[in-house]
Amino acid sequence: MRLIAANWKMNKTVKETEDYINRFLQTFKPADDREVLICPPFTSLYVASRMLSNSPVKLGAQNCYYEKAGAFTGEVSLPMLKELGCSYVIVGHSERRHIFGESDELINKKVSACLEEGVRPILCVGEKLEDREAGMTFKVVETQVRLALSGLEDYVDQIDIAYEPVWAIGTGVPATPEDAVSVHRFIRDLLKDLNPRSEGKTRILYGGSVKPSNAREFMKHPEIGGLLVGSASLDPDSFAKIVESF
Ligand code: PGA
Repeated sequence: MRLIAANWKMNKTVKETEDYINRFLQTFKPADDREVLICPPFTSLYVASRMLSNSPVKLGAQNCYYEKAGAFTGEVSLPMLKELGCSYVIVGHSERRHIFGESDELINKKVSACLEEGVRPILCVGEKLEDREAGMTFKVVETQVRLALSGLEDYVDQIDIAYEPVWAIGTGVPATPEDAVSVHRFIRDLLKDLNPRSEGKTRILYGGSVKPSNAREFMKHPEIGGLLVGSASLDPDSFAKIVESF
């Protein structure tokens, strides 16, 4: 089943979340072949969880810390997120890596904690423009995947991966579906190499300037296991169109 995920980033108050979900649930038509996930900011998880509890729409967080509890000011743990009904967590988003300096080692600990707590991580990977221009796309993606999953190779079937080229995030300029597919195939082969038994069980999503007008072009390709949508998920009608675009 393919996954269409909304990453709201640092957008929407509780009131705005209520308005969005009311509107989205009016337009959204559930379908058996796709899973729909909304990842609001932490402050909106409680209200979103209550509003989505009787719907098939899943709830996820945009980040987590790997310790269960303790003196970690400003952090949010997986038991806290689980209690709110989060079944997914986005881990290692490029904004976490590049604005907040998250290292591959920290991301690895977060993925490990998610697996331990039974919350499915969506591990984000992707090259910067300078990496792409230097012909380093595959090398960068390989390093990010290998380091994030180091020691967790037995569990790769319990995670999803989002390939999000950094230069395509929030720029309005997506990767071409063909370029995305070539990286998706590369990641698929890499996962097979990490764990031959896992073949096919990890969804590989594309993210970066996905909109209602281009979503179908990506979803035409069976290699693309879903979409991670930022800006275009902030409007409930636009997100509903993306969910229904294939
Ligand atoms: P975007 O963001 O759709 O606004 O490019 C995608 C993401 O960062 O997940």
